[in-house]
Amino acid sequence: MKQKWNRLLLSNRLVLLVLVAAATSAALLRAGTAGGAAAAGAGGDDWKKPGFCGRMDCPRYTAWQKSPDFQIREYDEASWVATNVSSTHYELAVKAAVPRLLEYFYGLNVEGLRMKETVPLLIYYRTDVHPHAGMRNFSVAMYLPYNYQGQPPEPNSTDVWIYRSPKSPLAVRMFQHRAREARVLDEAAALVDALEHAGHTDYESNVLMVASYNHPMKHHPHRRRYRHSEVWMRGDFKPEGRDGAGAVPADTAGAAATAGAAHV
Ligand SMILES: *[C@@H]1O[C@H](CO)[C@@H](O)[C@H](O)[C@H]1NC(C)=O
Ligand SMILES: *[C@@H]1O[C@H](CO)[C@@H](O)[C@H](O)[C@H]1NC(C)=O
Ligand SMILES: *[C@@H]1O[C@H](CO)[C@@H](O)[C@H](O)[C@H]1NC(C)=O
Repeated sequence: MKQKWNRLLLSNRLVLLVLVAAATSAALLRAGTAGGAAAAGAGGDDWKKPGFCGRMDCPRYTAWQKSPDFQIREYDEASWVATNVSSTHYELAVKAAVPRLLEYFYGLNVEGLRMKETVPLLIYYRTDVHPHAGMRNFSVAMYLPYNYQGQPPEPNSTDVWIYRSPKSPLAVRMFQHRAREARVLDEAAALVDALEHAGHTDYESNVLMVASYNHPMKHHPHRRRYRHSEVWMRGDFKPEGRDGAGAVPADTAGAAATAGAAHV
């Protein structure tokens, strides 16, 4: 009797193991194909979105340098809809800004256009102002859909403006977590360490951009609870020389999926 149970247990475990192995390899395969997205020349027609954009439009870039701790990317010029918020708290600033930006997307623009949502949500602020100093200024922006990058409709609200970001290199650190301020500051510190370690000294650490790809609307085909956030820092970065790694395809490490709860 006991032997029979053991055999039964064992075979159940085997079935479970096989199932887990199958699920894992399927997930890896999916991640592999989604992550295989490579950009041969950002801005070209052969641009493939990185996996962490899911099904949504997101800004184009060329990765100049990739390491596990950071990347140097050159972003193309891009159009964003933006709003400025003063708040004592980063999280409150984002919560106040998002509805204004969504109203623009949902038709509060002079053409009455309804646009599909995009990633990332971008939060721009100074980190050299002490978090307990009282009111701080935040600019919060959403990337505009590819169809409206060239000629974005003007916002109706005077609180909302169109921002055109220049073609420029950025240092980027990715993390699989929500973009709350405490975490953001840890990641920014880690990015500074990584840059210093790699010999990049010409970066601007008092202005930080946080890119949240954690869109609440789960538009990603693969996983539902995947999180992807990034901290971006400006600086005087150069492409790696031909003798180095050279320009490499856009992110493949992001692998599959986006979505989750809110952006912060
Ligand atoms: C919003 O803030 C940014 C950054 O501080 C500033 O450059 C811009 O002029 C502000 N825009 C408006 C409409 O206040
Ligand atoms: C936005 O502005 C345009 C042009 O001024 C106007 O026709 C339209 O009704 C406005 N939309 C809303 C929702 O107020
Ligand atoms: C926030 O912006 C306002 C004007 O836009 C400026 O007067 C003020 O000094 C800024 N506050 C901080 C903490 O930077």
